[in-house]
Amino acid sequence: MRIDRILRTAALQLARRQMTTPFLDAEVLLAYALNKSREYLAAHPEQIISTAQQRRYRRLVALRKAGTPVAYLRGYKEFYGLQFVVNRSVLIPRPESEAMVDAAIEAARQFRRPTIADLGTGSGNIAGALAKHLPRADVYATDTSRKALRVARKNAHNFGVRIHFYHGNLLLPLKNKKLDIITANLPYLPSSIKSPTASSLAYEPSGALYSGTDGLSHYRRLLKQIAQRRPLPQIVICEMLENQQRQFCNLVERQLRNNYQTFFTVVNGVAFVTLGLQKNRHQAGTIIVAANPLSHSRAKNQHPKIPIVAAVRPMAQRRPR
Ligand SMILES: C[S@@+](CC[C@H](N)C(=O)[O-])C[C@H]1O[C@@H](n2cnc3c(N)ncnc32)[C@H](O)[C@@H]1O
Repeated sequence: MRIDRILRTAALQLARRQMTTPFLDAEVLLAYALNKSREYLAAHPEQIISTAQQRRYRRLVALRKAGTPVAYLRGYKEFYGLQFVVNRSVLIPRPESEAMVDAAIEAARQFRRPTIADLGTGSGNIAGALAKHLPRADVYATDTSRKALRVARKNAHNFGVRIHFYHGNLLLPLKNKKLDIITANLPYLPSSIKSPTASSLAYEPSGALYSGTDGLSHYRRLLKQIAQRRPLPQIVICEMLENQQRQFCNLVERQLRNNYQTFFTVVNGVAFVTLGLQKNRHQAGTIIVAANPLSHSRAKNQHPKIPIVAAVRPMAQRRPR
């Protein structure tokens, strides 16, 4: 069968199953099945593909029709310009989480050799992107899933970066480390959110998605752990839903009991709330909250690039609250 015909048939089948990007999925999977690029498919629509290749492609399309995410079918997902190995033990990295990497890289400018901890590292996408872009940083990563850590180690190895991985609950494995920057994309979906079979959520590990009735149980735990640390980490960057931000700010106020300042900024179209924390003159820090408006399909480059310098200016330059 010709490339253009088999593609059209597959795309129509996927469209009938209400897939949001049927033509793209059909093309990406055919490129994967033939071990060619999408550009190659576009340039050779008339090429006949073998029966074995057709069989392989139809099997992939059948799995996609049943809902399996393309990233799990191919075994990798692009994040921050890098190809991360993924499997069903890890959350598929989302483009909106790239804003956390942007924010961390910007924040790291104020340290000569920053020590960074990525909590709930999953595939190691945030830690891996940071280690790749900040070669002078010491990068640590934790996760409670041993299977996820195996994937993350593989990714770090593939990129040739050094990350210290620890199995354990949030910051606990890093008790005696002085941390400058924390990134934490923890589970934040309220348990009431249903995952329709067409959504990738139905295929991803629930331990990577849900966090109690309001979705904030993990962040509550994290704030408690942060409150017990001395010195406080300078900068904490988290992702959550837009409608969780206010409650999160209240939690910070209650659990950290510091002077703080909240201001809003936007990074690549993602709204951030920033809380500046100050225990005393010697301990100052910032929590940056990346809001996820649950628009998983949003492309990063659809938004103007807005610098976030203001989000991480040092405490001394901020106005008192
Ligand atoms: C939302 S996923 C994020 C994965 C990845 N950082 C990303 O941005 O795509 C959350 C991750 O946190 C891990 N996790 C859940 N509870 C944890 C805990 N108490 N301590 C450390 N990691 C935890 C899960 O196993 C999962 O890998």
